[in-house]
Amino acid sequence: MRILGIETSCDDTAVAVVDESGLVLSSVISSQDTFHRKYDGIVPEIASRRHTATIIACVDEALLQAGIRIRDVDGIAVTYGPGLIGSLLVGVETAKGMALASGKPLIGVNHLEGHILASFLRDAGEENTPLTATDFPVLALIVSGGHTELVYIDRWLHYEVLGATRDDAAGETLDKFAKYLGLGYPGGPVIQRIGAAGDPSFHAFPRVTFSKGGYEFSFSGLKTAGINYVKSLPPAELEAHLPDVVASFESAVVEELAGRALRAARNLSPRVLTVVGGVAANKRLRARLSGWPGLRIYFPPMRYCTDNGAMIAYVGARRLMTGRLTSLDLDACSSLGIEDSSVES
Ligand code: KG4
Ligand code: ZN
Repeated sequence: MRILGIETSCDDTAVAVVDESGLVLSSVISSQDTFHRKYDGIVPEIASRRHTATIIACVDEALLQAGIRIRDVDGIAVTYGPGLIGSLLVGVETAKGMALASGKPLIGVNHLEGHILASFLRDAGEENTPLTATDFPVLALIVSGGHTELVYIDRWLHYEVLGATRDDAAGETLDKFAKYLGLGYPGGPVIQRIGAAGDPSFHAFPRVTFSKGGYEFSFSGLKTAGINYVKSLPPAELEAHLPDVVASFESAVVEELAGRALRAARNLSPRVLTVVGGVAANKRLRARLSGWPGLRIYFPPMRYCTDNGAMIAYVGARRLMTGRLTSLDLDACSSLGIEDSSVES
């Protein structure tokens, strides 16, 4: 089985071809970073225009690299939510047009489901050992610029959301703090770089606890505390201690993520904790989570942690295997939740 996957939910135009075992036959990503950088964030209007300009070339390139034609694919999978509506629409309408013209099945895919199943992707000749069907139950920590969720998966396509953020996502929090400090966009990598030389115990930012002891996250209070703290510092002091301030803030974000994830792992005893999304690149988070006794922690390769078409194609393959197809009147849904895509039987 060969599935074409199309992903345009945010600012990357991504197309890939994947087989039913999770083997990636091609993966093409056209980044829009240079178009958004000067605005210190993603401009939705620019994102959808860039998707329109590049999507056909990305599809052609993904098919070419996989050595196949559209007539050779078994299905066309596309992200239909959650995400920016204008961006989603470009992928969805392209996929619908291709499915109609080629007569191939269309499969609508949830972007968050894609991030989780990225843990099962592999490349020919590469040593990484992705998850397999024997690894269920899996606990997934999705941490990206737009999402922070803990999801429990006990079998294929069955998702239980344990907790999500009540406000900002983890990556968004790092991006906003970096923006306030004038460090540029995206904020996560620059915070990691500057914070590496700092003392994370320099300042104790407030930690959020919810009375019922659930697995929800909240970052907006931390973001405000970070900005207020920076405002309160004399400029010379901020300059002298920038790495310490940044390390302390980064460490507070990491503690919130790791604390919830490890508590869920202790209570639910999954076989694996997989950490996906752009923030999974963070070295402090990786160090904090690694070495937990009795729990395998998996970080997919970075190219599959950030948005990509391969993760969408693989969800498409799993859904096609169960005969779950989507009708051609598929519509984009910007607020789609992962539980909306959970298959109950
Ligand atoms: O998954 P992603 O590429 O895009 C979506 O949001 O879907 O994630 C981007 C986020 C940004 O917020 C960025 O600041 C963060 O991932 N990020 C990092 C690191 N690299 C990227 N955060 C912390 N440490 C990093 N090394
Ligand atoms: Zn994403």
